[in-house]
Amino acid sequence: MLHLCVLLLAGSALSHLDEAFLDQQWDQWKLTHAREYNGLDEEGIRRAIWEKNMLMIEAHNQEAALGIHSYELGMNHLGDMTSEEVVEMMTGLQTPEYRDRSFTMALNDDVRRLPKSVDYRKKGMVTSVKNQGACGSCWAFSSAGALEGQLAKKTGKLVDLSPQNLVDCVTENDGCGGGYMTNAFNYVNENGGIDSEEAYPYVGENEPCRYNSSGMAAQCRGYKEIPEGDEHALAVALYKVGPVSVGIDATLSTFQFYQKGIYYDRNCNKEDINHAVLAVGYGVNTKGKKFWIVKNSWGESWGNKGFIMMARNRGNLCGIANLASYPLM
Ligand SMILES: *[C@@H]1O[C@H](CO)[C@@H](O)[C@H](O)[C@H]1NC(C)=O
Repeated sequence: MLHLCVLLLAGSALSHLDEAFLDQQWDQWKLTHAREYNGLDEEGIRRAIWEKNMLMIEAHNQEAALGIHSYELGMNHLGDMTSEEVVEMMTGLQTPEYRDRSFTMALNDDVRRLPKSVDYRKKGMVTSVKNQGACGSCWAFSSAGALEGQLAKKTGKLVDLSPQNLVDCVTENDGCGGGYMTNAFNYVNENGGIDSEEAYPYVGENEPCRYNSSGMAAQCRGYKEIPEGDEHALAVALYKVGPVSVGIDATLSTFQFYQKGIYYDRNCNKEDINHAVLAVGYGVNTKGKKFWIVKNSWGESWGNKGFIMMARNRGNLCGIANLASYPLM
């Protein structure tokens, strides 16, 4: 029943996706992503979700080919999950009840003219894409990523920092249950440092804090927040400071299966921010469309090798400038 209505919506253009083709694609997908299910019931449920996702992706891409969308979708390792399940399992940003405005970055008028593009991946300030797994630790990956950027800027060395250190030790946050980035920056400041990934590897579960200063790889002396909702300020921070931790709404299935192009879905809700990621630059394409370059923590097989380009200056899409901050090093 589930897929019937999608089929109707998508129309006859999807008729080439017949059962035999889908069966074969499903077997291939399970093989690629090493999925095994407990019996036919579970497989049936997962297959129905996967099929609904397949048809949604196909319908979207046909519309994209007609110029209706600025981005394409693609099947990935999240294919047998609903977007609700992805949010439940792989996000974890908890919006703080209170934010002290004295930590808001001052915006001087001297930065009216910004370069057209900034990409910290090209400056050796962005580490490899990670996978948070089934743990609501997005905030820890976002925070570690922002600290990695400042460390690289300061020392010229690109070092993976330890999200697990943050998951286990930031008592203001809730580990795999979720958290907020400025609490992580405060912890690193008060703790006197954060361990490297090598010294304190990621396990993706809550464990007792075992920070050891002999593995310390970076320090932090506070943080600044971007004026809420100000996309110009976010661009200024990216240009002047480096990668910036941001919060977004990651609820939509278009986000789940984003593959390339500039992401824009008007249903993305800036009042419902649930996922922390890392803005690592911005730019403008050949058609003059502006975008943010964003690093996610859902592995390299998500998005465009783990990254997404999100529409910039289009009404603060997904709330990207609402809960943005960077550490001071
Ligand atoms: C910290 O690490 C050092 C070097 O690996 C080790 O000798 C020491 O026992 C560790 N301290 C604790 C409290 O685990």
